[in-house]
Amino acid sequence: MSRPLAVLAALAIAGCADAPRALLSGVPNPPPDVEQACALATTKCARCHPIDRVVVSRGIGPGRWQMYVEQMRLKPSSGISLREADTIFHCLRFVEESCTDCKQGGS
Ligand code: HEC
Repeated sequence: MSRPLAVLAALAIAGCADAPRALLSGVPNPPPDVEQACALATTKCARCHPIDRVVVSRGIGPGRWQMYVEQMRLKPSSGISLREADTIFHCLRFVEESCTDCKQGGS
């Protein structure tokens, strides 16, 4: 059976792929609209700090993401529109629902 190896190889490749995958690492089979939303999030949310700041916070739950996205959007010159905030939240909510490895200690 070579399937487990193929899966490992695919994971290894995904692991070294471009930065937009970082938000989605550990998220199985994101649909195309989520991938696009996360690409936007990666661009918009890495303007003032590394995207890692967002990646390491995964697992805090959709409610807190909604708060953070709004808080970041309202910063002067965030360059994030209401519509884009919606899209970014679409990405983060999907990550919260799908990434079991992302859960943080508390709830
Ligand atoms: C206009 C600049 C700017 C943009 C754009 C921005 N951030 Fe931030 N972000 C900051 C600053 C400044 C801090 C640290 C101070 C603070 O928490 O307000 C921060 C901190 C954070 C933190 C850590 C908060 C904490 O309490 O530890 C998270 C999570 C975060 N940002 C997420 C995001 C997300 C998600 C986006 C995209 C929607 C985003 N940021 C876009 C400026 C920005």
